[in-house]
Amino acid sequence: MQIAIVGATGNVGRSVIQMLLQKGIASDQQIKCLASPRSAGSTLSIDQHVFTVQEARHDNFSHCDAVLFNTESDISAEYVPAALAAGAFVVDSSSHYRLDPQVPLIIPPVNIDQVTRQHKLYAHANCLASPIATVMAPLHRAFGVVRASICTYQSVSGAGKAAMDACRQEMQSVLENHPAQTTRFPRPIAFNVIPQVGDFRDDGSSYEEFKIIAELKKVVDAQIAISATAVRVPVMVGHSIALQLELTNPYSIAEVQQLLSSARNVQLSAHHYSTPIEVVGSDDVFVGRLRQDPSHPHGILLWLCSDNLRRGAAADAIEILAAIKAVVD
Ligand SMILES: NC(=O)c1ccc[n+]([C@@H]2O[C@H](COP(=O)([O-])OP(=O)(O)OC[C@H]3O[C@@H](n4cnc5c(N)ncnc54)[C@H](OP(=O)(O)O)[C@@H]3O)[C@@H](O)[C@H]2O)c1
Repeated sequence: MQIAIVGATGNVGRSVIQMLLQKGIASDQQIKCLASPRSAGSTLSIDQHVFTVQEARHDNFSHCDAVLFNTESDISAEYVPAALAAGAFVVDSSSHYRLDPQVPLIIPPVNIDQVTRQHKLYAHANCLASPIATVMAPLHRAFGVVRASICTYQSVSGAGKAAMDACRQEMQSVLENHPAQTTRFPRPIAFNVIPQVGDFRDDGSSYEEFKIIAELKKVVDAQIAISATAVRVPVMVGHSIALQLELTNPYSIAEVQQLLSSARNVQLSAHHYSTPIEVVGSDDVFVGRLRQDPSHPHGILLWLCSDNLRRGAAADAIEILAAIKAVVD
């Protein structure tokens, strides 16, 4: 397969290339790196491989079997049609196609079987909906989830490489005793938490909260009542989630542990819980603080941690690509 990566220089794009090489899905000769005009002609070093970055243009998808988009929605909207017209399979990381009823939204541990010969374009879910669904879907099948209440603790890498640089600069500035200031976030992020991820909508929710709820409903079950509060925290990589589920059927903690220990891409945390820095580099969702919710007889409380550049990002894109390869072969 000849594979083009659009957004190759970004956080997710670099992670995608590294995983393609490490998992032996593609050699460096099979990978074409595309990015904005700013990066055209620059080199990108990933492990021992060096790539020359080309400017993404409408005419550079010929001879590509698959194109992985790791770009913001507007860039995906502009170039995905050209990639499809060139006959390539497309996997898009952005939110642009996720809620389109014609486009399968894939969370690989949950619904990878929706990758078929019929579809050329796939979207994967965001880096919160994916880990939450990875844990929630098996619980829903076994016990029936009626309601989910979600609170996220999202790392700055989820907002792209420029946000990571901004966070580092803000921290450095505060450590040098300058007043807290920001150029990138709604409020200063250094040594702070911000209960706003994305713009606010008319109903008071943020766009991130809307996406988490809508994507979970599309993939897991539209009947589940879901609320979410998305919070940005000064962590570089790794998202955490406090998840409260209300189940239809009675359960025991031992049954839930048993179920989750055999669920795809789920690991039970050692020593009660995981933290972001402990899960970086893993494709799995780590589940800890598993306990009965004292406020509801069928309620359960969980703490989730995952690497946001892999689960709900590069790992999802690559697993979709591998499934495409399998149905085409
Ligand atoms: N970060 C996460 O945790 C995460 C998880 C799931 C999904 N996503 C989604 O994945 C996408 C990429 O996120 P990211 O965090 O990797 O962002 P990022 O670090 O900001 O990277 C953005 C990439 O897009 C490229 N780009 C910008 N303008 C372009 C243009 N006109 N033509 C072609 N390429 C262009 C950039 O190239 P230059 O370097 O040349 O500017 C860069 O390679 C977003 O839609 C995001 O919502 C992110």
